[in-house]
Amino acid sequence: MVTPRHFLQMKDLSREELAYLFDRTRIIKARFKAYQRYWPLQDRTLVMIFEKASTRTRLSFEAGMHQLGGSAIYLNTRDSQLGRGEPVEDAAEVISRMSDIVMIRTYEQEIIERFAGHSRVPVINGLTNEYHPCQILADIFTFIEHRGAIQGRTVAWIGDSNNVCNTWLQAAEIFDFKVHVSTPPGYEVEAERAGLHGTGHFEQFADPMDAARGADLVTTDVWTSMGFEAENEERMRDFADWQVDAEMMRAAKPDAVFMHCLPAHRGEEVAAEVIDGAQSVVWDEAENRLHAQKALMEFLLLGRVND
Ligand code: CP
Ligand code: NVA
Repeated sequence: MVTPRHFLQMKDLSREELAYLFDRTRIIKARFKAYQRYWPLQDRTLVMIFEKASTRTRLSFEAGMHQLGGSAIYLNTRDSQLGRGEPVEDAAEVISRMSDIVMIRTYEQEIIERFAGHSRVPVINGLTNEYHPCQILADIFTFIEHRGAIQGRTVAWIGDSNNVCNTWLQAAEIFDFKVHVSTPPGYEVEAERAGLHGTGHFEQFADPMDAARGADLVTTDVWTSMGFEAENEERMRDFADWQVDAEMMRAAKPDAVFMHCLPAHRGEEVAAEVIDGAQSVVWDEAENRLHAQKALMEFLLLGRVND
């Protein structure tokens, strides 16, 4: 059996492969907008396993697979044997014999790694507690569309040092840009989790205004990620000063864009005037999940294509 390629973290693909993916994303998006049929994955089946809720990830993978000519099957832990203690290794053996590619949204990164270790087909991380690589594929593609190359730019991350933040930090080392992070005390980036290598792509700021200063892109995420709901009340208090508002956007470059992976909570991590304002590109960002993941599935199943 040939070992399949997986996408469990951003660094699973090289900078060159990611650059190729962005080129394919552009082509696949243009074809979709022109209503051109493109079915390279005809007769292929994607299995999507969700242990946490989702709107964008489910929709973009399911619609994306159909648009590429294949089909998608949705499984969750509530009504499959996954929620009744079947070992993840056994599930991987079986699911990967009946499908061509698997996407998983789960809790610990270790779960998806164990699944991938027993899978005959490519496995894609659709969000874990540690990483959300498909999101950052779409985010960087969106930045390139709006502002050009991300190399040498500065991204300001305001709020929780969560899965999305960790993935930005991995991407910064790959693409050579900087991430300025500001979190409340006690919620700082964990160097090991974020895979930091002291390469100067990351800087921590106590004051979120300092993190935003001069940034090309300002981004944030919910104060309480899925799986951490028990901490919600405490987090509401701790994060109160870490809202991206108009004043913070004014500290960034005048042409800075605002991103949020969504779902957003207006009045918490972001002010309505920012997410609904002129600098916000959140709807393009959400749409680009579809196009970027189609390019990703095409690459993992077919390798590089020329058409
Ligand atoms: N951004 C994102 O992954 O959204 P969903 O939780 O709706 O999939
Ligand atoms: N950090 C958020 C992202 C949701 C798409 C979470 O993990 O819940």
